[in-house]
Amino acid sequence: MSTDPEFEPIETERLVLRRSRADDADAISAYRSDPDVHRYQGWDRTDPEGVRQEIEGMASRSPGEPGGWVQFSVEERGSHRLVGDVGMSPADGEPGVMKVGYTMDPACQGRGYATEAVAALVSYAFGTLGAEIVRAYASAENLPSIRVAEKVGMELVERFERTDGGETWSGVRYEMRRP
Ligand SMILES: CC(C)(COP(=O)(O)OP(=O)(O)OC[C@H]1O[C@@H](n2cnc3c(N)ncnc32)[C@H](O)[C@@H]1OP(=O)(O)O)[C@@H](O)C(=O)NCCC(=O)NCCS
Repeated sequence: MSTDPEFEPIETERLVLRRSRADDADAISAYRSDPDVHRYQGWDRTDPEGVRQEIEGMASRSPGEPGGWVQFSVEERGSHRLVGDVGMSPADGEPGVMKVGYTMDPACQGRGYATEAVAALVSYAFGTLGAEIVRAYASAENLPSIRVAEKVGMELVERFERTDGGETWSGVRYEMRRP
């Protein structure tokens, strides 16, 4: 898999995916702090300063670079309104495997935006970075997330259970091979 230090924003019919900036933190924090949004997510912090630090920590990493996540803010093309964010991270110790994640502001859900943004991210991972497999993990109960994975062409490859602090968590792994 290659890296893309010269990343240029990805445009879709209705959206633009650009590198997240520190000044996105307030908007991202606002929707991540909604219990419905963070229910199935493992974020340590959703307050503005925590989100800002996370964005700043990712700023020097290029898409495709091993070692962590790169995040893109998703904007509506005309209004420049920030409607969500998507991210990608090479899987540790599995060359060619790219993990993706996605979150949309509840005010902007149900319009097909996540599907449109993730489909663009998947084609970027295959086409520009040369990934062999794109992967998404979700809670088995997170039906909207699973639906988005299916709509962009991923298939269920594994169901698993993890016990964390006495609680058992059922997860699913969805994947798609390079077309
Ligand atoms: C997952 C998420 C990004 C989807 O965003 P979105 O912009 O609403 O997604 P889309 O509009 O592209 O598609 C959502 C699909 O889920 C479906 N859906 C929504 N709620 C559903 C439910 N309770 N049960 C089943 N399907 C559901 C929608 O009908 C739609 O499918 P359709 O086009 O076949 O009708 C958004 O719900 C979110 O941010 N959730 C919280 C964060 C999260 O859990 N992210 C995933 C972590 S792996």
